[in-house]
Amino acid sequence: MSVQEKVEIKKGHGRPDRPITKELLEKDSKPDHIIITEQPDAIPSYRQIDYKRYYDQDYADQEVEHVWRKQWLYAAREEDFANVGDRIPLNIGPLSFIIIRHEKNGYKAFYNSCLHRGSMLCTEHDNVATIKCPYHGWEWNLDGSLNRIPGHWDFPDVTKLNGHLREVKLDRWGGCIFINCDPDCGPLSEWLGILPEHAKCVELENRYTAAHFKKLMRANWKANLEAFQESYHLTTTHPEAVPFNTDQQAQYEIWRTPQGGLGRSITPGCVPSMFAEEDANMVTATYAFMEIMKSWHYPDAEIAELDPEGDVRKQAADWHRKVFKEKNGRESEAPDTVLLDSLLYFVFPNFTVWVTEAVPILYRFLPHETDPEMSYFEVRVLRPIPAGQEAPPPAPCRHMGADDSMLDVAEGFNFLAMVFSQDTGNMPLIQRGMHAADPGRGHSTLGRYQEQIVQFWHQLFDEKIPQK
Ligand code: FES
Ligand SMILES: [Fe+2]
Repeated sequence: MSVQEKVEIKKGHGRPDRPITKELLEKDSKPDHIIITEQPDAIPSYRQIDYKRYYDQDYADQEVEHVWRKQWLYAAREEDFANVGDRIPLNIGPLSFIIIRHEKNGYKAFYNSCLHRGSMLCTEHDNVATIKCPYHGWEWNLDGSLNRIPGHWDFPDVTKLNGHLREVKLDRWGGCIFINCDPDCGPLSEWLGILPEHAKCVELENRYTAAHFKKLMRANWKANLEAFQESYHLTTTHPEAVPFNTDQQAQYEIWRTPQGGLGRSITPGCVPSMFAEEDANMVTATYAFMEIMKSWHYPDAEIAELDPEGDVRKQAADWHRKVFKEKNGRESEAPDTVLLDSLLYFVFPNFTVWVTEAVPILYRFLPHETDPEMSYFEVRVLRPIPAGQEAPPPAPCRHMGADDSMLDVAEGFNFLAMVFSQDTGNMPLIQRGMHAADPGRGHSTLGRYQEQIVQFWHQLFDEKIPQK
């Protein structure tokens, strides 16, 4: 339900010693960087979101037809496939695909369904010489061409030509593999929009998976995604971050693409929240930031002595550049904001990249196979491959149940384990609470500015899913 009246939209809330994002970026030591200079090109129309979208089976079915079957979908990282013949099943709601490395530098994606009587062909990450159905043994080569049908004489209609596994489009960017099962879809590059240009400075293709989990969530996939599309919740949900991380000073932007669009949030680090105690300031916030970076990424680094009279943000960025080079053997080309702040790029519908050296992670939000009230939340830490070194083997994905604690992943995720535990703890409450709402008030009330990426996502759903 769209609410169209005109109101003045304030773009964040700060004060001189706790500035909003725009004021910080203006002082950045690489002010001509595209991340800072490129202007967003869209504003969503304001809307309230019907809670049924988060639990209604019919709505979930519409998402399958009009979103999951139409959009480019992040499927895997190239480093997941060490050898030719490695394959991974990709489940998205009721849909399932096989992603396979069929040759040294080639990947393919197929519908994960046997052409005989429909059995799934791949249920786990494994390595195979051929794709063989576990039921009656129909068998395909790694490129999807038909290899063998036991008792082929009884299937005179099946030929090499029509017996090829049903293939879907696959393309790659930044070490990530994407698929699209719409034969008429536009190119991946178009879907990614501004992202490749903006993410150039973090070289996603030059990274490896250092930690990885996938957790079953008791909430719809959109509720889970929306927990990361705004920083408004930081003060209440993550009180430990208030002394050194902003919330209402964050900046939100939107870019359209022919397929949908992207949202970006920039939430400055090294600056206290507007809700922090008065003794918190950019110096204390920067010391807290350096301690976290040291404990997570740079154990051998020395914490810098800050000059409180100087430009503290520049000192923080210079420190991060220095320790990045010491650890990785090369310079970072990133502007200050990539070294200090939380820059999240959300690509419709469910792919999120943090373009930052502080929190270098990828998110994916996946609908459950059968239940719209459940979903999967997947996170990877992508560390830079140090110059002149082979990439370490990727960390295996840790599969977590709905009741498993995120604190169990503390080793790989450092302070984020606590943050994720706080975020995921909200999810069953929001899912249950949406059912408990007064039926006469069964919708959310979104912030005009801080929740505009959430608004934009639902605008896209409205554009793609026929209204009843
Ligand atoms: S269902 Fe696959 S071979 Fe029969
Ligand atoms: Fe959070």
